[in-house]
Amino acid sequence: MVLADLFKICAYGGRWRRPNSHILSAARRNARKFQRGRSSLPEDTSNGYEAVAEEFLRRRLGSPSELAIVREWATSLPRGGSVLDVGAGSGEPLAAALIAEGFDVSAVDASPAMVAAFQRRFPGVEVACEPAERSRFFDRTFDGALAIGLVFLLPAESQREVIRRMAAALKPEGGLLFSAPRQVCAWDDLLTGQTSSSLGADEYRRIIAGSGLHLVGQHVDAGENHYYEACKPPG
Ligand SMILES: C[S@@+](CC[C@H](N)C(=O)[O-])C[C@H]1O[C@@H](n2cnc3c(N)ncnc32)[C@H](O)[C@@H]1O
Repeated sequence: MVLADLFKICAYGGRWRRPNSHILSAARRNARKFQRGRSSLPEDTSNGYEAVAEEFLRRRLGSPSELAIVREWATSLPRGGSVLDVGAGSGEPLAAALIAEGFDVSAVDASPAMVAAFQRRFPGVEVACEPAERSRFFDRTFDGALAIGLVFLLPAESQREVIRRMAAALKPEGGLLFSAPRQVCAWDDLLTGQTSSSLGADEYRRIIAGSGLHLVGQHVDAGENHYYEACKPPG
């Protein structure tokens, strides 16, 4: 299963299929059970991904076109530069590709299970378990920042905030890459049953410009996932 199948069950236009209702109900039941079981624990800030981490990781294969977009973006960064992966999951396959290319990757994810998987896979790589909205990594600067499959999981104001914070954490000439649909739309995440939403290309362009970055490209992979690539001007 590729990224689009996992993330995009769009409730408009009929381009993406809605999942069978029993799959959605099961996902919602899982999420509710998880929340009930953890009622004495801190709130889940992973937008439901902690509850479904195992299944997500089993299904997350990645596609050659997705990897090609991330690798091509990385060629715009200094060789061996620092890259922050926001909502990194287990780091497979995207952080893995960047690490293999020699980048100094740091990662953040709000799901403890995802972070544990990341640590098992990349024991020497710095990873923090915290919500992107409050990540301490944003006190530092990086040559690149990417957020694949994350932005549209967040409430609209958090989407704006996280994009702004990723932009602010870039060094001069640093690069940003994130994925979100072009269309303004909302849909139920196939695994978590929680509502995802896209603010649409016009609004993402405005947020990018308002964060002091230039939009330098938009890309679409074979699964019809849309990517925004932006760059910080020289200092
Ligand atoms: C759809 S997965 C994508 C993971 C990875 N980027 C990939 O491409 O495989 C979304 C990830 O974002 C994480 N996540 C969700 N909400 C988050 C938040 N508020 N802060 C940080 N990570 C979050 C989830 O735990 C999950 O690992």
